[in-house]
Amino acid sequence: MSTDLAALEQRAREELAFCADEAALRSWNGKFFGKQGEIAIALKDVGKLPADQRRAFGQDANRVKETLTQAFETALAQSKEQALEQSLAAEKIDVTLPGRPVRRGRLHVATRIMREITAIFAELGFQTYRSREVENDLTNFELLNMPPHHPARDMWDTFYTTIPGAILRTHTSPGQIHVMRELCPEPIRVILPGMCYRYEQITPRSEIQFQQVEGLAIGEHITMADLKGTITAFARRLFGQERQVRFRSSYFPFTEPSIEVDIDWPADDPNADRLTKGTGWLEIMGAGMVHPVVLRNGGYDPDKHSGFAFGLGPQRITMLKYAIDDIRQFWANDLRFLQQF
Ligand code: DAH
Repeated sequence: MSTDLAALEQRAREELAFCADEAALRSWNGKFFGKQGEIAIALKDVGKLPADQRRAFGQDANRVKETLTQAFETALAQSKEQALEQSLAAEKIDVTLPGRPVRRGRLHVATRIMREITAIFAELGFQTYRSREVENDLTNFELLNMPPHHPARDMWDTFYTTIPGAILRTHTSPGQIHVMRELCPEPIRVILPGMCYRYEQITPRSEIQFQQVEGLAIGEHITMADLKGTITAFARRLFGQERQVRFRSSYFPFTEPSIEVDIDWPADDPNADRLTKGTGWLEIMGAGMVHPVVLRNGGYDPDKHSGFAFGLGPQRITMLKYAIDDIRQFWANDLRFLQQF
């Protein structure tokens, strides 16, 4: 009994129609066309046929092989196309779209201003010095000419810690003592940038942490004229060459005489009135000639040496420069704020 080729073809076609994907098609192909496949087995039957029927069987078998091969290839092509369409629809990746750009970070505006300020002072011959943020009563107050219970201490609301005597510095001024003690009797020209801490209610205008830049110049024959020249040069480099600078007398325990420094604010700036409270002048820093007591505490002889010091708040300057109305933005990490700079 030889194989019924017509029945084989019929069955193969039916099974082909049920193949749902490429894997199924390939296993169908193996089942019928493989070395041990049904067609190969069927062809072995040719030997059992009487000689006169062999030729016709062979021809028939070839025709079946050919049509099934064609059917298989058509089905395979269709299935591949379908799979592609499906994956395009499901994954929705359009490789022709341009890629998403990688977002680059940037320096925080506080860092940028700090760098601008240190660069200006570097041009004026000031080195940058780092000083510690944790101080004690002695360096934060006493050596800066504020004995215990001195009312001037009221100007700085202090964070005390559970370690007796250890406090967070309320200003960068204690750095003056450290630099003097390190460099005495050499001349000094440094700035001391860094973070300060005050126990205050947080409002749009005041934070418990903020930056300051302290300045200190010590040498022989340093006068108020040097202070005025340095500050004027600094203010004009930062705010524009046409700025007017005004010096008012003031009080700080660690300087004598003490001054506060204002710059005029361009009257055509829409913020001018708000910033200068109608006066046209804007305060940018405190300064003065280093008090003899402070010089002595740093190791210098006030009869031989003199010096000037100043302290400014870079964030306040940034707020002025960019019309920022809330100091809390500096540490809020809101990208909408940060990306403006
Ligand atoms: N330490 C002062 C403060 O935080 C700022 C200051 C004023 C610093 C005058 C100085 C100075 O060096 O001479 O309010």
